[in-house]
Amino acid sequence: LLSLAALAAQMRSVARRASQDELKKQVGFKAVDDYVKSGTVIGLGTGSTAAFAVERVGEKLKSGELKDIIAIPTSIRTKEQAEGLGIPLATLDTHSDLDVAIDGADEVDPALNLVKGGGGALFREKIVEMCAKKFIVIVDESKLCDGLGPGFPVPVEIVPFCHEHTMRQIAALPALAGCEPVLRLGNVANNQKDGDEPAITDNGNYIVDLKFTSPIKDPVAAGEQLKATVGVVDHGLFTGMTTACIVAGSDGIIVKE
Ligand code: 5RP
Repeated sequence: LLSLAALAAQMRSVARRASQDELKKQVGFKAVDDYVKSGTVIGLGTGSTAAFAVERVGEKLKSGELKDIIAIPTSIRTKEQAEGLGIPLATLDTHSDLDVAIDGADEVDPALNLVKGGGGALFREKIVEMCAKKFIVIVDESKLCDGLGPGFPVPVEIVPFCHEHTMRQIAALPALAGCEPVLRLGNVANNQKDGDEPAITDNGNYIVDLKFTSPIKDPVAAGEQLKATVGVVDHGLFTGMTTACIVAGSDGIIVKE
């Protein structure tokens, strides 16, 4: 039997999650209302916040408020959600000029650089979002930070072949000094260990989560060094990509540009 204190703690945590979900919904809906126009090609992000934007696109297509949208999903999960809502889909192979892409993030620094990939979709997110004229990031205020790294491990997608070697190469990169690479196990969308086998991305690769105890001094250099490492497919440092970040908090919604 739960003690009264444990029950109260559980209820508080459910209430916190509900209010965080409400904030995610607000930014997801606002991004679509403000940035998605009829007759455009849009990128659909991945994760619990992006899912609200996908929901809103589906809702507005159904009501006729939006017409002639073509959407490029950034994961199998998002593709399935969008298909379920009747959103017309394509890939970058046929549509590589996007008007706007909307996605969540795990951390946002004051320069609007991001950590992404908590949901394991960083490669597809990056390749799609780099093709968008506008990249709109949607977060609740808990994602804002002073410096990337210590608050949320930086995910890196690597090929399975010789992955332990690649992890050692990553740990030795000068711009990532002090990081601890941890192979993600279990469900690819969850960076808390919840299985014994390596998590597999939509692209058939592994994810390594880089843990930091202090902020990454130069996220651009860190990203360049990761990208130049053989065995690395891509990384969750999204620098210089954000057009605007819509943030929801207890005081309302603000847009940072
Ligand atoms: C998925 C991502 C997500 O955008 C990021 O993890 C944020 O997710 P959520 O909105 O569920 O907090 O990068 O790879």
